[in-house]
Order: sequence, then structure tokens, then C-alpha cells
Amino acid sequence: MTDVRCAHRLSEDASGPRQYPAYAGATRSLRRMEMTPQRWAFTTAYTNEVFGVQDDHLTELMTEAIEEGLPDIAVSADVGRFLMMLASMTRGRLALELGTLGGYSGIWIARGLQRGGRLLTVEASSRHADFAQRQFERAGVADKVEIRRGPALVVLPQITEELGEASVDFVFVDATKTEYPDYFRLLRPLIAPGGLIVADNVLGTSSTWIDMETPDMHAVDRFNRTIAGDPDFEAVALPIREGVLMARRY
Ligand SMILES: C[S@@+](CC[C@H](N)C(=O)[O-])C[C@H]1O[C@@H](n2cnc3c(N)ncnc32)[C@H](O)[C@@H]1O
Repeated sequence: MTDVRCAHRLSEDASGPRQYPAYAGATRSLRRMEMTPQRWAFTTAYTNEVFGVQDDHLTELMTEAIEEGLPDIAVSADVGRFLMMLASMTRGRLALELGTLGGYSGIWIARGLQRGGRLLTVEASSRHADFAQRQFERAGVADKVEIRRGPALVVLPQITEELGEASVDFVFVDATKTEYPDYFRLLRPLIAPGGLIVADNVLGTSSTWIDMETPDMHAVDRFNRTIAGDPDFEAVALPIREGVLMARRY
């Protein structure tokens, strides 16, 4: 019987030039549902309209964030709800986020935690962290959310030292794209069996797509392939908004 954990393991040359052999074969079955740019825009708008309902606080947060000059790069409401649902499906005692921005995704995650659960969210910009702290207080989740200030690659080893291996139930990765492979290297030992790692932008950003020859997309491609080929994880990427990866540790 095929070991499903290894069936998708990548060949040795996975880190070489990117090739997409499955793509050519896929076009036939996709013909009936051709994803034109217009259809993609419609699909994204439709799913966010139907599944992206959010409360006034989250709507106001984004308006205020933009008024205060924070970049408009938070996840959409449907992705936020997905994060909340996934966090609630884990043991939900300890969650970790890389890239707080204004606290939008952090509030969704905090709402999915079990009673007594905690979220540590890492943010390099003190302006973003200050804004997010106010929003966590307003949203009534400040007692379970702690912002760790500093670059993720510096803060993550400190967190590992402090919490110990296999201590984290849920991780959301949404900071510097070129650092995604290093985030996974540092996060891997932290994730508890049954824990989830979720990452945003695994199919692109507002200006790039995964097959583009940019440092961001090369790094994200390497991150995707590393997790997909890791025998300790089961992973899938969903084409919601800019692509959300979800991987579960055995
Ligand atoms: C895409 S935004 C995060 C959006 C947020 N997760 C949300 O959906 O509401 C990325 C954030 O990560 C922060 N950031 C970027 N590189 C970082 C790094 N190396 N370490 C920590 N934070 C970083 C940025 O300052 C920015 O606030």
C-alpha cells in the first residue's frame, strides 16, 4: 500500500529550475472552467462577499489602519474566518503569528483559540505593533494576545528557547516572503503533533504570481515545495485570495 505521507515527496532536483509538468495535462480538464482574469476577480469578490462577513470592529480597524497610513495588505475577511476556524480545530492553547500589521488577522486567530489559549504575534515595525495593541484592547482579546516586537528571524529562536519544542498548536506566516523558507526551518521544531502551519501569499502577492522570476516568489515556491515534501507534514494550498497553504504535522 502506498504511504500517503511520502507519495507526494519531491524528486531530488526539486530545488532546481522551476518546472510545472502537471500544468499541461491539467488544461484539458480545466477547459470547462477556464480561469480568465475576469473570472478570477469575480471569484475572489464573490467568495469574500458570501463568506467574508465580519463585525463592525474589524471593518473599522481596516478603515482606521488605512487612515493612519498602514499598508492595505491584511488578509481578506474570508481568509480571516478560515484562520479562526482552523485555529479552533487545533488544541488551540498556543498560537503564533509572523506579521501582525494592524492586528486584523490576529483578532480572527484569537477568536478561534480555546479558553485560556494564547497568541504570540511577531512584528518588526513598532508603528504597526502600537496600532495593533490598541486594536487588540478594543476587540477584547488583549488578555490572550502578546505582541513580540522585532524581526521574526531574531524573535523565533528566542521563542523556541522560551517555549520548547512541539509547543505550538497553530502558526500563521505572513511576514517577509523571501524569509519563508527560513521561517519554516525555525518553526518546524516548534509545531506540536496535530498542529497546523498556515501561510498567506503562497500563490502570489498583489503584484506577483507564483511562477514569476522574483526573489519573493522563488522563496515562496521553495517554502511550498519543502513543506509538500516533508514526510512529517500533510500540506495543501488553497487558491483563496493570494493563496493560503495549510499543513498539519503528524
Ligand atoms: C502582510 S502584513 C501582515 C498582515 C496581517 N497578518 C493581517 O493579515 O492582518 C506583514 C507584516 O509583517 C511585518 N514584517 C515584515 N517583515 C517582518 C519580519 N522580518 N519580522 C517581523 N515582522 C515583519 C510588516 O511590518 C507587516 O506589518
